[in-house]
Amino acid sequence: MFAFSADPAAPKGELYRQLCAAAQAVTLGESDAIANMANVAALIWQYVPGLNWAGFYRVAGGETPSAELILGPFIGKPACIRIARGQGVCGAALASGTTQLVADVHAFPGHIACDADSRSELVVPLIHKGRVLAVIDLDSPTPARFDAEDAAGIEALALLLAPILAPELRGAT
Ligand code: SME
Repeated sequence: MFAFSADPAAPKGELYRQLCAAAQAVTLGESDAIANMANVAALIWQYVPGLNWAGFYRVAGGETPSAELILGPFIGKPACIRIARGQGVCGAALASGTTQLVADVHAFPGHIACDADSRSELVVPLIHKGRVLAVIDLDSPTPARFDAEDAAGIEALALLLAPILAPELRGAT
């Protein structure tokens, strides 16, 4: 059994450090990417307050023009399964290889509404050896919920997870 508990009084930077330490612990010695993404999605849900969706999309099709994202483990309402490269916030993260911090999803051209409650979104690509293997997607019902500190925290998590998930995710693309 894993027993992690987030301290709601901790400063945001400290919460993300704790999240990364917990992610390191749950994935230790485990090679199954689905199991690891499922546990990390649960940890994000536990450590990051104010979310209505948190999870992963995996890249299929490598770096070909037909590359797309396919839904992975998540917490939240059922979501769209396939997202084309360049489509919506997640597809923009895949196409650009950069973090997408969206204060108002309604103002983002092509935003894909999986949950009508979502108002702001943070999407971070998980990059290994120069290739995007997956994206981590966080949605919030609060406008402008995410700031640079949230982006840095999830980017640290993506950096930590990339080599752990790469052996299976690279094989899948
Ligand atoms: N809003 C995302 C789609 C995924 S859901 O938020 C879970 C997008 O625009 O890519």
